[in-house]
Amino acid sequence: MATGLHGRMSATQNAAVSVRGLTRRFGDRAVIDRLDLDIAPGEFVALIGASGCGKSTLLRILADLDHEIEGEVEVPVKRAVAFQAPRLMPWKKVWRNVVLGLPGLPDRRRAEAALAEVGLSHRANVWPKVLSGGEAQRASLARALVREPDLLLLDEPFGALDALTRIKAQELVGELWQRHNCAILLVTHDVEEALLLADRVLMMKDGVIAHEVRVDRPRPRAVEDAYLAELRARLLGWLGVGHGAMEDAA
Ligand SMILES: Nc1ncnc2c1ncn2[C@@H]1O[C@H](COP(=O)(O)OP(=O)(O)O)[C@@H](O)[C@H]1O
Ligand SMILES: [Mg+2]
Repeated sequence: MATGLHGRMSATQNAAVSVRGLTRRFGDRAVIDRLDLDIAPGEFVALIGASGCGKSTLLRILADLDHEIEGEVEVPVKRAVAFQAPRLMPWKKVWRNVVLGLPGLPDRRRAEAALAEVGLSHRANVWPKVLSGGEAQRASLARALVREPDLLLLDEPFGALDALTRIKAQELVGELWQRHNCAILLVTHDVEEALLLADRVLMMKDGVIAHEVRVDRPRPRAVEDAYLAELRARLLGWLGVGHGAMEDAA
């Protein structure tokens, strides 16, 4: 690598993620500090943690957008990212945005198939600016899925949506995950969202994965579920919110 650091990022045909001893410094501060992480093929993992704890930094490294690392990172070759802001190119019609960057000529049928999956067939030929926030976010998901990723990286993708649109988008991601069988790493600040969607919820703190829970519940899940309510209290405790935190302090 050309960075002068000791890190090694490798993209492999293997569909799993393996991170060993990952460190990312900004100046002399290690935001990520010898972090280990494994994600199995097809596993849905949610990542929570206080604002500024390094979640997006970790995601950017897994997306290969940041190379200033120490440690070992192994990710699937086929991966895709969707961010909170949909980042569509305003001068390209929606369908062209979906296949932007794919090799070869823009393939409209492929774009339309992906848009149909997210319920946006009727928006294929419009400019991004006429989309609602929820539609833009779905277009962004279509753009990720058209790449048929083994790993889908989502950074607070529903954070800017209103409550109802968010619930629909969460359901959609759950369906797409089951259909595509890809691994997902979803960064979210919403503990309930994490528990509804993920096989495993990780909590990042002090530069490492400090806690994790396995969510052993069939889908679709309901927030009223007593088991999930118990996990929710535990996660909020780790985050320093709610009763768990008060017990910790006692
Ligand atoms: N390019 C950068 N240069 C300097 N500091 C950064 C940079 N990117 C992120 N940081 C710092 O690293 C910390 C983690 O940021 P981030 O990963 O965005 O947190 P999160 O996504 O968990 O809210 C923050 O303190 C942030 O200010
Ligand atoms: Mg972030």
